Formats: sequence, C-alpha cells, structure tokens
Amino acid sequence: MQIILASNNKDKLREVREILSPLGIEVVSQSEAGCRFEAEETGTTFTENARIKARAAMEATGKPCVADDSGLEVNAMGGGPGVYSSRFCGDAGYPETCRRIMEIVDKQGNGDRGARFVSAVVCVFPDGREIDCLGTVEGSIGHVYEGEHGFGYDPIFVPEGGAHSMACLTDGEKNAISHRGRAFRQFADKLRTAVEIERIKE
Ligand code: IMP
Repeated sequence: MQIILASNNKDKLREVREILSPLGIEVVSQSEAGCRFEAEETGTTFTENARIKARAAMEATGKPCVADDSGLEVNAMGGGPGVYSSRFCGDAGYPETCRRIMEIVDKQGNGDRGARFVSAVVCVFPDGREIDCLGTVEGSIGHVYEGEHGFGYDPIFVPEGGAHSMACLTDGEKNAISHRGRAFRQFADKLRTAVEIERIKE
C-alpha cells in the first residue's frame, strides 16, 4: 500500500517512513508526487492544520494524502508554542530557540517543567473520507541541551520516565515512544480497517 505524505520536512519524512514501512505502507513524499508547494497553516489546532496540508496535497495529486501537524506544548508557556512551534523558532535556529524555552521555564520559578509533544495526523481521500489520529508524549523541559539525534526541540525534551533528552535516542527508540510514532501507528490500524471494509464491500 502506498500513501503520499504532505510534508517537505526531511526529518518527518524519515521518521514516518521508519514507522510505516514495517507495517507494509510505502511513504511517498509530496515532492516525489510532483507537488512542491507548502500549504499555509491557518488553523488554530494541530488537527485543523494537518487537514489543510493533507487536503491541499490531495487536491493537487488526486490521490489519498496524509499530513502530520505537530509541536511542543510547554506548561510554563500556557501550552505554547503549540501550533506555532516552527514559527516560534523562525530564523533564530533551534539551539537558540531551545535555550530561550529553557530560560522561560527556569525563570517562571514554580518548578513546573512539564511539557508534551503532540502530533495530529489527518489522511484525506479523493471521495471525501478522512482518517484523524492524535498522538502525544508527556515529558519535561530538561536542564541541559543534549543529544545529536532527532530534530527541532528534541534536545530539551525529556520523555516521562527517561533521564535524557529525546535527542539522545536513535530514530527507532524515539519512534517507539514519540507523539508521531503513536499517531502514525493508530493511522496504520485505521487505514488497514478502512481497506478491509472496502474489500468486503467489493
Ligand atoms: P509542522 O511542520 O508545522 O508540523 O511543525 C512542527 C514543528 O514542531 C517542528 O518544526 C518542530 O519545531 C516541532 N516538532 C514537531 N515534532 C517534533 C519532534 O518530534 N521533535 C522536535 N521538534 C518537533
């Protein structure tokens, strides 16, 4: 089974391929499918933004497309940067932005370092059907910037029960516990069920 991922983010593409290929789903990037634009994320929730990206790619290719919209929610920032996670980084770069977040959490003074990564996955089909999934991983903002793996905010996010940041995990270890791993494994289950139902109808 083949599915188009509506994303130009190479790190996401690598992770999603690693999650879905053992489950028998081949992931084709939107650029490989001939679709080079970036849809504007005008939604106020992760699910709305994932739907916008998936729909734009589906309308351009005429094929089922899946998108992930994800981000980091930090308690000390009232749940921010949330859907603005990539825009919050802007041109500053992740090491600098991660340090800014650590500073906000350190300065807030109530000891709450709680945070979570969220991934909303939406798949849209040309006949109007849609599959929605949500994955989260709870954790905290670390005291140090550490690790070489992953991307984005991984070096400052310590998953619950762990002693080191997400960036200290290999892709495989991260995918086993991550927001994106959880959301895309749910997606694979729902996709398989939808395909089975279609076969029964035929
Ligand atoms: P999106 O492409 O609009 O979904 O932006 C997601 C942004 O959230 C990324 O650019 C990162 O800033 C952040 N983010 C999402 N998932 C992860 C992750 O797995 N690790 C680190 N940062 C992430």
